[in-house]
Amino acid sequence: MENIKKKIEETLKEILDIDNIFENISEIKEEKKGDYTFPCFILSKTYKKAPNIIAAELKEKIEKKDFIEKIESVNGYLNFYVDKKYLTKIVFEEYDKKKEDYGKNNNCNKTVLIEYSSPNISKPFHIGHLRTTVIGHALYNIYKFLGYNTIGINHLGDYGTHLGKIIEAYKLWGNEYNIEENPIDELTKMYVRINKLCEEDETVLENCRNNFKLLEEGDEYCNSLCKKISDLSLIEFNRVYDLLGIKFDSIKGESTYVKYMNDILKVLEKNNKLLNSEGAKIVDLEEDGIKTPCIIQKNNGSSIYATRDLGAILYRSKTYDYDKSLYVTGYEQELHFKQVFAVAKYLDLNEKYINGLEHISYGMYRLKEGKMSTRKGNFVKLEDILIESINKAKEIIKEKNPNLENIDEVAKKVGVGAVVFSDLYNSRIKDEVFDLDEMLSFQGETCPYIQYMYVRINSILSKVDNKVLLNNVSYDKLTDEETFNIIKLIYKFNDIVSLAAEKNEPYIISRYLIKLSNAYSSFYTKNKVLSDDIEERNSRLYLIKVVGNIIKTGSNLLGIEMPEKM
Ligand code: ARG
Repeated sequence: MENIKKKIEETLKEILDIDNIFENISEIKEEKKGDYTFPCFILSKTYKKAPNIIAAELKEKIEKKDFIEKIESVNGYLNFYVDKKYLTKIVFEEYDKKKEDYGKNNNCNKTVLIEYSSPNISKPFHIGHLRTTVIGHALYNIYKFLGYNTIGINHLGDYGTHLGKIIEAYKLWGNEYNIEENPIDELTKMYVRINKLCEEDETVLENCRNNFKLLEEGDEYCNSLCKKISDLSLIEFNRVYDLLGIKFDSIKGESTYVKYMNDILKVLEKNNKLLNSEGAKIVDLEEDGIKTPCIIQKNNGSSIYATRDLGAILYRSKTYDYDKSLYVTGYEQELHFKQVFAVAKYLDLNEKYINGLEHISYGMYRLKEGKMSTRKGNFVKLEDILIESINKAKEIIKEKNPNLENIDEVAKKVGVGAVVFSDLYNSRIKDEVFDLDEMLSFQGETCPYIQYMYVRINSILSKVDNKVLLNNVSYDKLTDEETFNIIKLIYKFNDIVSLAAEKNEPYIISRYLIKLSNAYSSFYTKNKVLSDDIEERNSRLYLIKVVGNIIKTGSNLLGIEMPEKM
């Protein structure tokens, strides 16, 4: 599609001989004063004139162009009003060409890895994992839409001393618990019980440590038990992924990367980076501005969390030749990733692989009841939250539309969408309080509001049998302010998705969708879509068809599905 800003640049280039025109043109945020503006004070030095005089002179010099409705010189700025019919025409023609793919980019020959969700086996998949899962999934869709070769990775936590405890609990009470039937609940009960016992009895704790050591040494019993726990846990995790519509391209446990520890130690040694500290091998990171050194090998010979992340970097650089590698986890892991990325610089990898590493951190969810702890057994399972939201959604929909078919399917889309959308509505780093009733409201900045807008559009389109054609559009009928606000938003769709990727912030799309829904709502209040004037009617129908499609595409990028009726 034509780029209007670029066209304004070209126009100015005809009369100006400076380089940075494009960067200086910006969109005008307030309505009514035009669409794009160019500041003339940047020319004052060269022209030795006041900006307002320059602006006035330039205005006279610019030749009339079909895409510009008018130009104004205001306080030293040149304000451009885009021709309404022109913009509407290029937007509609682009839509007609690309249909559902409107806004999508072709293959950009870049690979991005997105590591997200990554719960720990045997532990509950709780509300604390919601953000990484939902943000990561949205980023995955966004990059894919922009033409990246996108790889979604689930880095399962299948390693660590807590497994030594689970193994001990299984040895002691394995026959008392039915982990096949109800894996995470039963394993959690065992975990709580063994923790209590460890506090009372040192020797039990010692046994747990020993189990972990056996696991590391490749002991068959311990390893096959862990494999079983991992498989059973995944069955439960997959139920949540199904509800959220998530699939991963790669699911690998952290334990996969233990085998790289020796390679890592070797390069670091070679690069004079390895220090001994009370028997442990560490890398000092003062030079990199990080006060805490990174442990690579503990004094008992074990790897740590960071070692395995370094191993994963070695593996992924070889396997995927990535351009970007994003890690979506909470901000409490900031130091960890700083350390890992700093040490990665000394592994003799191609610089591209180091520059591509990025920690996408986010704030926490707070429950009204306070902090969660698996160790004590108080946590809220993500699956339960989603099911509760679906049930609540069902009640609300039943009341509004008692005769709706497939109510369960709709309730799922509304209930899950509400939770996902609210998670993605603010900048990542903000802490959030979890409030289902607010999320499920049909008014305000919520998912049901957007879904309802979509459903209303659909219902109008279904009345005309969906036969809405570009050929029947009369651009003269689409020049009112409310319509043009919508057109401008549709024109911007690809820029919005690109910005969301650039900043790794899905909220840029959520806010856009609310804006678009609001713009549609204002349009709808003012204008009758099924007007008696046939030209007006056909033109407006085409407009709302495009709006509906963008709402759907944008929501899908966030991981939200649209009901056709509700
Ligand atoms: N399993 C970890 C947890 O639940 C998250 C893993 C994050 N990814 C990583 N590469 N360290 O906290």
